[in-house]
Amino acid sequence: QTGHTALDYGYVNTASTKSAITYIDGEAGILRYRGYPIEQLAAGSTFLEVAYLLIYGELPTADELAAFDAEIRRHTLLHEDMRYYFEGVPHTAHPMAVLSGGLQMLSTYYESSLDTAVPEFVEVNTIRLLAKLPVLAAYAHKKSIGQAFLYPKNELGFVENFLRLNFGNKAEHYDMNPVLVEALDKLLILHADHEQNASTSTVRLVGSTGANMFSSISAGINALSGPLHGGANEAVLDMLAQIRDSGQSVQTFVEKVKRKEDGVKLMGFGHRVYKNYDPRARIVRESADRVLAELGVNDPLLALAQELEQIALEDDYFKERKLYPNVDFYTGVIYKAMGFPTRMFTVLFAIGRLPGWIAQWREAREDAQTKIGRPQQLYIGATERKLER
Ligand code: SDX
Repeated sequence: QTGHTALDYGYVNTASTKSAITYIDGEAGILRYRGYPIEQLAAGSTFLEVAYLLIYGELPTADELAAFDAEIRRHTLLHEDMRYYFEGVPHTAHPMAVLSGGLQMLSTYYESSLDTAVPEFVEVNTIRLLAKLPVLAAYAHKKSIGQAFLYPKNELGFVENFLRLNFGNKAEHYDMNPVLVEALDKLLILHADHEQNASTSTVRLVGSTGANMFSSISAGINALSGPLHGGANEAVLDMLAQIRDSGQSVQTFVEKVKRKEDGVKLMGFGHRVYKNYDPRARIVRESADRVLAELGVNDPLLALAQELEQIALEDDYFKERKLYPNVDFYTGVIYKAMGFPTRMFTVLFAIGRLPGWIAQWREAREDAQTKIGRPQQLYIGATERKLER
């Protein structure tokens, strides 16, 4: 009928998604998870507390956190046959592809408990995802460097376990570095949710069809892998290395960006929502110097990033377009100092974003308004034509 829109028929247009999870004010550079400012959570909570807050709506009591943590620790093992999945993965595979494929493969071992209409299954799969995605990620890393996989250790906490699975090996005891643990925990908090970004919208859209949590999150991982989204943290390091290796000055590179030469962009700059400094980028920038010093790493790429930021922030081209550093601009330098290969950076983003994806997926399933997602289109194609035969 004329005059009706998709909204009249109950289709949820993702542009009108209602959510109570994360609030962003792009002009003011404000980010809050369930009302708590990101600055306070980054300074005063842990990633597991933030994951609980995003998923269940309130910060956990000490007992609730202990139970949540214990449940996650108990579910870190992958089905033993998953080793055959990893045997088939080429060592050259991008870890993001291994992660999203591995999640789908893992779900095939839970066929009897994937039905999204069963609340108990949603709970157990929430824990399974939080417990097992980091293990899949670490195995993707180990596969890419040809090292044997370690089994998780349930006496270790979430971040400790993840670090040991990535950097431990069978030949020696892994010495946990508390600086690394604290820095990675904070970075994961900063990535935990970000309202309706591309990958989260993907997770909600896939979930709105009744697809299970593993399939929905796997789709979100694929969306995140794009260089304009989560893949930007990897692209920033490639950009900085390319500037360094080319011998060109930072100013010369910036002029190329302004001329849009070969479509080159200043990766890690700009944002669909933030037209001010990304509050997450501010926190990362402030801690980057300290973390690298504490790790005893002196990386000239950090100074290059700081010079690039300084030049861009003073340049009218970027000011007019309200282009500021986003969360991806400085994180890569820290991940590199931690010892992660560049192609693992977006995997780290996915680990951080997982609780947000889960929370948003659960909210969409619980939201009575949600029908199958079907974003509206504005038809700009041909008007009716006659088939002349
Ligand atoms: C994330 O949505 C989220 O919340 C995402 C995220 C999350 O937590 O989930 O915050 C994570 O994805 C952060 C963004 C990571 N991406 C990058 O760093 C890639 C580089 N950034 C750009 O591709 C871009 O800024 C976007 C895609 C992030 C946002 O683009 P917009 O807001 O759609 O802006 P636009 O493409 O319309 O550009 C407006 C103008 C254009 O110039 P003009 O045509 O007006 O001359 O700004 C220019 C663009 O060319 N521009 C850039 C630029 N970003 C925009 N020019 C140079 N370098 C850039 N980075």
